[in-house]
Amino acid sequence: MIHDLWYKHAVIYCLDVETFLDSNGDGIGDFVGLTARLDYLAGLGVTCVWLLPFYTSPNRDNGYDVSDYYSVQRKTGTFGEFVEFMNRARQLGLRVIADLVVNHTSDQHPWFRAARRDPQSEYRTWYVWSKKRPRDWNKGMVFPGVQKSTWTRDAVAGEYYFHRFYDFQPDLDIHNPAVKEEVMRIMGFWLELGVSGFRVDAVPFVVSRKGAGVRPHIKDYELLHEMRHFLQWRRGDAILLAEANVPPTESMEYFGDNGDRLQMMLNFWVNQRIFYALASGDTRPLQDALTATYQRPYEAQWGNFLRSHDELDLGRLTTHQRQIVFDAFGPDKPMQLYNRGIRRRLAPMLNNDRRRIELAYSLMFTLPGTPVLRYGDEIGMGDDLRLPERQGARTPMQWSSDRHGGFTSGRRPCTPVIDDAIYGYKKVNVADQRRDPQSLLNWMERVIRMRKECPEIGWGDWKILRTEPHVLAMRYDWNDRATIIVHSFVDRPTVVRLRVEGPGGERLVNLLSNDQSEAGESGRHVIELEPYGYKWYRVGGLDPAMTPARSA
Ligand code: NOJ
Ligand code: CA
Repeated sequence: MIHDLWYKHAVIYCLDVETFLDSNGDGIGDFVGLTARLDYLAGLGVTCVWLLPFYTSPNRDNGYDVSDYYSVQRKTGTFGEFVEFMNRARQLGLRVIADLVVNHTSDQHPWFRAARRDPQSEYRTWYVWSKKRPRDWNKGMVFPGVQKSTWTRDAVAGEYYFHRFYDFQPDLDIHNPAVKEEVMRIMGFWLELGVSGFRVDAVPFVVSRKGAGVRPHIKDYELLHEMRHFLQWRRGDAILLAEANVPPTESMEYFGDNGDRLQMMLNFWVNQRIFYALASGDTRPLQDALTATYQRPYEAQWGNFLRSHDELDLGRLTTHQRQIVFDAFGPDKPMQLYNRGIRRRLAPMLNNDRRRIELAYSLMFTLPGTPVLRYGDEIGMGDDLRLPERQGARTPMQWSSDRHGGFTSGRRPCTPVIDDAIYGYKKVNVADQRRDPQSLLNWMERVIRMRKECPEIGWGDWKILRTEPHVLAMRYDWNDRATIIVHSFVDRPTVVRLRVEGPGGERLVNLLSNDQSEAGESGRHVIELEPYGYKWYRVGGLDPAMTPARSA
């Protein structure tokens, strides 16, 4: 079997350069700062860094409004510094993937400025226009409440333009061959500078037909194949990781039946049901979600995440399920967003309960797919709900108990560093956690190491073992290895009884602590779990390096 599909065995860490580390005291994180912290990421066990948009941008949507795709936002560094960063990452064996935001540009992009000024400009056809206000002008907003419409009249052009997101983000018409070619050129440019692929923003909207009166549910998925095809000619091991919050019935369209479209998708379907399970103690919808996303081509892989730079979107739960998650994790209005999501970080949602935080991450690292960690979550950072909208969970990384959490030596960080009594930088920071063997950071490092020693999770086949609804027990098989992973979602001790089929099934070796389970007379294992407990077992004693002596 060929094993070099690296993304099946990666640990992805996403960060925003601007909020990671400021090297020159101007209050804005930069590439020089990030480069200095690559050792930290390598030490944590990360293998791939996903950079949020770092291109030139008016920054009205955290960089997701690009005004020059072939540049580095000046305040975060120069091209030279970017290349030094890439070089250092390569030396440390870290891959880098970049956000590719081509559903729309900023309205300040020279293409849009030319397009609105001159109907004869070639750029006019790069965007989506209508002379009259389309009938669905106030339908299909992604940010309802903040965003009033999807068509806005541009006074300069004298026409309406389409924008799936904010009005300062006009949609590109990627079905125009010239735009498509430009998108490929953008990908080619960054691949040439060494990135290992892209996280592709807003994919369902990229592939949708756009225009007044067209039915957006008609999607041109073949475009994804064209992108993949180009990508792999330029760099054989590069990947596309899709942001596509779609029902499982559609996911094969994104992966392609033959695995010839996108290699990876973030698993939003599972994500929302993880939070339901954490809120309710009932894992059945999560089990259904896993089963529903089971089918995928050999090359394809899910990305499993807990929180991202956006709100926790609960839009794909039932009304009842959503209410249960709101009640548990976002009961107050200021915690909520767009009536469908929660704008908090993980630790505060879980009340800073270490048992539940570990449960959530243990799950993320062992669900079928590749884990995607968000900066700051490894130390249990909190949020600042006084900041507007999604900004509350985008505060600077907390490195130490120094002023501004060691993020900047300057007077004013671009966003205030959290300074409250529980999650503030004096309480939650990397420097202190490094020195504390019991810290979340050290726990995370160990769990990442164990995850890397379990390739069967990223590569293998899996099945759910039948237990109680409040327990999720899974088995992974790959080559001659197998693991059993058990998680309990309730605040009381639990006993799980399992029969483990196949060679070595009479003996389970705990990978995280010093215990083993021997099957009883009945052939079943009796596994005791603490409240919110979890156990990772290797089946049998197949791997001598991982297995303590029988008497241990
Ligand atoms: C999805 C990104 O994750 C989000 O932050 C952004 O606002 C929208 N796409 C628009 O680009
Ligand atoms: Ca700086």
